Amino acid sequence: MTFDLFDALPADPDASPAIETLAPGAVVLRGFARDVEQDLLAAVRDVSAAAPFRNLITPGGLRMSVAMTNCGDAGWVSDRTGYRYDPVDPQSGEHWPAMPEVLRALARRAAEAAGYPGFAPDACLINRYLPGTRLSLHQDRDELDLRAPIVSVSLGLPATFLWGGLRRADRPDRIRLAHGDVVVWGGPSRLVFHGITPLADGDHPLTGHERINLTFRKTR
Ligand code: SIN
Ligand code: FE2
Repeated sequence: MTFDLFDALPADPDASPAIETLAPGAVVLRGFARDVEQDLLAAVRDVSAAAPFRNLITPGGLRMSVAMTNCGDAGWVSDRTGYRYDPVDPQSGEHWPAMPEVLRALARRAAEAAGYPGFAPDACLINRYLPGTRLSLHQDRDELDLRAPIVSVSLGLPATFLWGGLRRADRPDRIRLAHGDVVVWGGPSRLVFHGITPLADGDHPLTGHERINLTFRKTR
């Protein structure tokens, strides 16, 4: 019967992606970045060829397990003197690579889908996780303009995202983030504590043993 056949068709791949609410002002857009996955990863390769991934030192003197680089007008850096946004890559003395248009456009589109139209990021921090890499609970609070949201894109191996509250002691929820998922948090959730548990090993068809995370910020 044609009716049964129709019923058995897979879900429409063009249907709008699922939106999950994490908290007021915060959502996960499942699979949102998948339509540009190859372009995003090519752009990450270009950026990291000019500004290589490196493991920064915290103000407390510890080396971070996440390797980082940046693109855009400003890049997030940490050293013994503290955290800051810097227009120059301290490793090369050159400006960070420009933000590729495919990144900027995706960030804008995701913010809009999450209810934050007109998002104009000037910084994209690129995080690289290998098996065992973690990112402890923290707030993104080095930006001058806290009205703009944070847009965070997951690529490659899946991770467990810790989504806490406005106090460090708030017990975090554990959210699984897979390739292509985008998390957007702003408004009342802008200063929520978040982090990533140690990455489990795996082999992703596009990134191998890595997870790449892009976080877009408006710093000024
Ligand atoms: C971050 O908080 O900067 C990164 C979060 C993530 O890797 O998903
Ligand atoms: Fe963060």
